[in-house]
Amino acid sequence: MKLAPLLFGGITALVRAQTAAPYTDVKSGITFQAYQHTTGYFLGVALPENPTGNTDLIVTIGGKGTGWSGASLAGPMKNALLVLAWPNNNTIVSSFRKTNQYGSPPVPTGAFMQLPIANGTYTNTTHWTYTFVCSKCIQSDGTTFAANENTTVLGYALSSAAPSQKGNAASSVSKHSSQGQAAFDLVKARSKDFAMWKNWAAAPKVENAF
Ligand code: HEM
Repeated sequence: MKLAPLLFGGITALVRAQTAAPYTDVKSGITFQAYQHTTGYFLGVALPENPTGNTDLIVTIGGKGTGWSGASLAGPMKNALLVLAWPNNNTIVSSFRKTNQYGSPPVPTGAFMQLPIANGTYTNTTHWTYTFVCSKCIQSDGTTFAANENTTVLGYALSSAAPSQKGNAASSVSKHSSQGQAAFDLVKARSKDFAMWKNWAAAPKVENAF
């Protein structure tokens, strides 16, 4: 009679596994593999058709309300390239973050850049959305997923509380109210339209509001 508990355990594990699904932004028309959280948080990624040697991806991240949304491009919070963004009136404030300890992560230095895509960056009555080319983001040192990976796990974190200095991209934040990891099918994230979408991006901005 050990079968039933085993089965139930298996089903629970399946339900708990969080998986990204295809998602097309209504304004930009860019198609992502995206994870959506019940709070309204979402995280999507798009990649070029040919992964060999690629360092760039398009990220869409957003949520509801005035709190922050964050992502880990490797999965864990620690020793990973993190993306952090929040709405400030009708603009989005964003930055990269990196830390080797649990606590408000500081802004790192590096060659990576965020190039905002204007038609995928907006606030409406229910959501805010920030879409950008993450240029020189994909690393081979484990701080992000690797270019040639076909599936990966990305981390998500969100807080309903706004950062203390909303206009300052380097603001400290309080701990997330929800966090976890989600499986992404990177093969499905690849698109022949990537180069066109990438061309929509504006000049690089790393720590500014736009
Ligand atoms: C004061 C700020 C923060 C504190 C104190 C903090 C602390 C923690 C702790 C203790 C965990 C382990 C799970 C748990 O015990 O809850 C965790 C997980 C996580 N955090 Fe943070 N965090 C902060 C900010 C952030 C930010 C800004 C991001 C992203 C931009 C982030 C991303 C994650 C992710 C993706 C996880 C899940 C994966 C993992 O467990 O490593 N965190 N955080």
